[in-house]
Amino acid sequence: MDVYAVAGNPISHSKSPAIHKRFAEQSNQKMYYGRLQPELGEFKTAAQAFFSAGGKGMNVTVPFKLDAQALADVLTPRAQLAGAVNTLRIEDGKIFGDNTDGAGLVRDLLAQGLQIQGSRILLLGAGGASRGVLGPLLEQSPQKLIIANRSNAKTDELVRLFSDLAVSLDVVLQAVTLGDLEDASKIASPFDLIINATAAGLSNESPISDTAASNIFTPQSFAYDMVYGKVTTLMQQALHRGARVSDGLGMLVEQAADAFLIWRGVQFSDAIDSRAVLAELR
Ligand code: ATR
Repeated sequence: MDVYAVAGNPISHSKSPAIHKRFAEQSNQKMYYGRLQPELGEFKTAAQAFFSAGGKGMNVTVPFKLDAQALADVLTPRAQLAGAVNTLRIEDGKIFGDNTDGAGLVRDLLAQGLQIQGSRILLLGAGGASRGVLGPLLEQSPQKLIIANRSNAKTDELVRLFSDLAVSLDVVLQAVTLGDLEDASKIASPFDLIINATAAGLSNESPISDTAASNIFTPQSFAYDMVYGKVTTLMQQALHRGARVSDGLGMLVEQAADAFLIWRGVQFSDAIDSRAVLAELR
């Protein structure tokens, strides 16, 4: 039986085994998908042992996405652009690294009826989570995409990395600080889509003040938090201003669907029903 796993530390909370089990059932395939928890600094050894023992593919989560990128012999263009790898597969002894996070986010947003093309997007945070989704978001041709972070250094670096892609797609790509969001004159208009990719959601904080929230949310806005399993403070700020909100559970399911199809073959894309799996997890 083909064996897959998700590697992270900690990993016991991961929903990935349950998601892949359902995809395998839906598409009538026999496979096993387990969990691996390498010690910090031990990812490479653990992953090599997994593939040497016949493992076919691996999902990689916090804190090993950069280690997975370093391990891969070949990177897909989107993994290169994302600067991180969440999906590994082996073929003819070579390890291929891919990143399905951004595609997963876009698929979830589209499935929720959001019109990304021509929209005004605000992306909060400039760490690995933001970098992972920037390429796929730009490829949907929004009108503009503003990245906001506490300080400028990381946002400036992201704008530099993605400016060629943005120019080629005619998307306005800019950086601001979270503080700038409090000054309505610095942000020309409210946003259609606000995505929280900061780590603030994990600690029950919002990355933005209430003043900033009043500037960026309208009843037409859609606020998306990559964290799942709770209504975050940012989602509450958005709800108070009449906006629609979503947590990141759909992104988790959709990035898994993309990984599943990379491993098992796109011919199964009609056989798996990711939205049904999402509904079962809720
Ligand atoms: P990840 O890989 O999950 O993106 P990261 O690279 O550590 O993790 O990045 C975390 C992001 O969340 C950063 O943009 C960080 O802002 P700084 O660059 O200013 O550190 C942001 N972040 C973390 N906690 C935050 C908070 N309480 N308020 C606002 N931004 C926060």
